[in-house]
Amino acid sequence: MSALLFSPITIAGLRLENRICVPPMCQCRADDGLARAWHTMHYGRLMTSGAGLVVVEATAVSAEGRITTRCLGLYNEAQQQALAHLVRECRAVATGPKLFIQLSHAGRKGSRADPAVAKKVLSPGEGGFALIAPSEGAYFVGTPAARAMTQADIERVIEDFAAAARRAAAAGFDGIQLHAAHGYLLHQFLSPVTNRRNDQWGGSLENRMRFALAVISAVRAAAPELPLALRVPACDWIEGGWSLEDTAAFVVRAAQAGVCAVDVSAGGGLDPAQKLPAGHVTVQKFSRVVREASGIVTYVAGNITEPLQAEAVLAAGDADGVCIGREMIRNPNWGWMAAQELHAVVQAPASYIPAFF
Ligand SMILES: Cc1cc2nc3c(=O)[nH]c(=O)nc-3n(C[C@H](O)[C@H](O)[C@H](O)COP(=O)(O)O)c2cc1C
Repeated sequence: MSALLFSPITIAGLRLENRICVPPMCQCRADDGLARAWHTMHYGRLMTSGAGLVVVEATAVSAEGRITTRCLGLYNEAQQQALAHLVRECRAVATGPKLFIQLSHAGRKGSRADPAVAKKVLSPGEGGFALIAPSEGAYFVGTPAARAMTQADIERVIEDFAAAARRAAAAGFDGIQLHAAHGYLLHQFLSPVTNRRNDQWGGSLENRMRFALAVISAVRAAAPELPLALRVPACDWIEGGWSLEDTAAFVVRAAQAGVCAVDVSAGGGLDPAQKLPAGHVTVQKFSRVVREASGIVTYVAGNITEPLQAEAVLAAGDADGVCIGREMIRNPNWGWMAAQELHAVVQAPASYIPAFF
């Protein structure tokens, strides 16, 4: 029987060669949000990894939306041109894999220093920027706190996402992924742990979903030609926090609003109070619930490292596709290795073929 991992899949009319996805992984190598030589090397390499889909790292929709001062941005013309150049270079390397970009706003988790230099949150006086979030507060006690967003802030950020989506389309990406996981702004609105508002943007589940759904609708309208994907948290790992059932309900609504693929991540990052299970987390039990509830293409991320393990996730119907993150950094030819092991074929650059077959 041929390997499911190497069977094609279609997302909103876009055909992917196989079910391997390289998920977004921040490189913290941008200057003023601009993609540079590092990104050309990094994403060019991933384009030949054998994956059917590569998602460019969390890219901020505004300067204040950056996680660190070295994150990519897509809020001005120079950044759009730098990413358009990156897309052209990637396509010159390989035409098979599709290239999505993850659009993100860090909310209260922004304004961090270059992690290669220091693990700290920068105050505006130290070169950082003022933070905003659904509710006032800091991620880490003792670090600069975010102020609660006003109605005008909320409307502005929704428009920032739409503008970045228009730029993503103009830069030539094949699709967009919205970051609603790992404790960043969309997740901060979803979770009752970080959203303590008592207006239409907080309180009930319906109200807490309102901001993310508004972002989805705005992005859908701004870039109707691009498939829209969404990264969601499996749950909050906090008693009384966002649950797997909430995720499933949210993805159903997101699908109605135009999201055509979802990536379920069991990662942390919402709040220091999170209690993630020790050791290896079996993530696919979460994606299965989301997949069955929503019926949309579902990817799963977290500790999938072996080809047979990936194949088993698909064979069990736990997900439609798998994300291979850190393992793809360790072994950027992972897809080739997987193809060999599963007796499948992967499109490879002609000059590399002699090394593998
Ligand atoms: C260096 C690094 C940077 C990451 N940056 C992002 C990011 O920009 N956006 C995102 O959604 N997840 C990010 N993640 C999470 C990964 O996409 C992935 O979900 C996680 O590493 C678990 O998958 P893995 O076990 O296959 O690595 C990052 C992970 C790493 C290791």
